Amino acid sequence: MKSLLSIEQLTKSELTHLVNKAAELKKERGNHADQPLRGQTWAMIFTKSSTRTRVSFEVGIRELGGFPMFLSGNDIQLGRGEPVKDTARVLGRMVHGVVIRTFAQQDVVDFADYSKLPVINALTDDEHPCQILADLLTVQEKIGGWEGKKFAFVGDGFSNMTRSWMWAAKILGFELCVASPDSCKPPADFIRDLGADNVKICTDPKEAVAGAHAINTDVWLSMGQEDQKEKEAEFSGYQLNSKLLANASAGHIILHCLPAYRGKEISEELLEKQADVIFTQAENRLHAQKAVLVELASD
Ligand code: CP
Ligand code: NVA
Repeated sequence: MKSLLSIEQLTKSELTHLVNKAAELKKERGNHADQPLRGQTWAMIFTKSSTRTRVSFEVGIRELGGFPMFLSGNDIQLGRGEPVKDTARVLGRMVHGVVIRTFAQQDVVDFADYSKLPVINALTDDEHPCQILADLLTVQEKIGGWEGKKFAFVGDGFSNMTRSWMWAAKILGFELCVASPDSCKPPADFIRDLGADNVKICTDPKEAVAGAHAINTDVWLSMGQEDQKEKEAEFSGYQLNSKLLANASAGHIILHCLPAYRGKEISEELLEKQADVIFTQAENRLHAQKAVLVELASD
C-alpha cells in the first residue's frame, strides 16, 4: 500500500490486516520502541474543520516517532489559489508523507500523483477511509466482528461516510442496509459500479434497522453543505432513537463518527446510552491511523 486514498482501493486482506494491526497497536499503546516514523515529518493539510482527525493524527505521528506539521488550508498558498499539483511537488521535496482533509477526492489523488509521497485521505466529499477503519475496530471489539452480522446506515445515503461503508460491505461481504430519503439515495450508477448484492438501499429506516447488530448514522448536512438547511426537513423520521430501534437485534450497538447533532440524527438519550461505544469509536481513530502510518512507513 503506497497511500490510503479510499476504502474502495483496498482488498479484503489489506482491510482486515489494517483493522488487526490497529488492535495490536492499541494493546501496545505508549510502547512503540521501534519508532517507525523516526526522523520523519508528516504534513497535515486541512481545508475543513476537525477535532478527532487532527488530534489523533498529531498524537499518532508523535507516538510513532515522527513530527506532525499542521497546515491549515487557509494559511498556506493553496488557500490563495496555488494549484494542488504545485503544492504537492513542493512538499514532495521536503516531507515524508501527507495527511489531507479537503473537498474534492481528485485533489487527494492528484496530491499523491504529483508529490510521489504516501498520502492519507483524512476525509473528502467522497470518502472517509480512516473513520471506517476505526468503526470496524469498534465492531470487532464490541460485537465480535462483522461476519454474519447485519449493519444499517440511517441518514444521508450518499455522504462520504455512507459511501465508505458501502465499499467496506462490498469488500468484507457483510449485509448493509442504507435507509435515506429519496433525495439523497445513492445514485444508480454508483450502485451499479459497487455491484454488491449484500448492500440494500431503502427509504424506510424501520426496514433498515430490523434485526441489525450495528446501526450507524452521521450528520444530515456534511461539511460544505451548511447552506442547504432546507434539506434537513427531508430527514424527519430518520432520527436514531429508542422507538426506531425497537426491532433491532438484542445487544445492538450504535455508531456515530461524531460530531453529533442531538435532536437531529440521534436523540440525546440514545447517544448517552451508547456513549461507551461511540467514544471508543472516536478513540479508535488514533489506533487505526497509527496502523495506516506504520503500513505506509514500511512500504
Ligand atoms: N469523525 C471525524 O472525522 O471527526 P472530526 O471532523 O472532528 O475530525
Ligand atoms: N459526513 C460528515 C462527516 C464528519 C466527520 C462530513 O463530511 O461533514
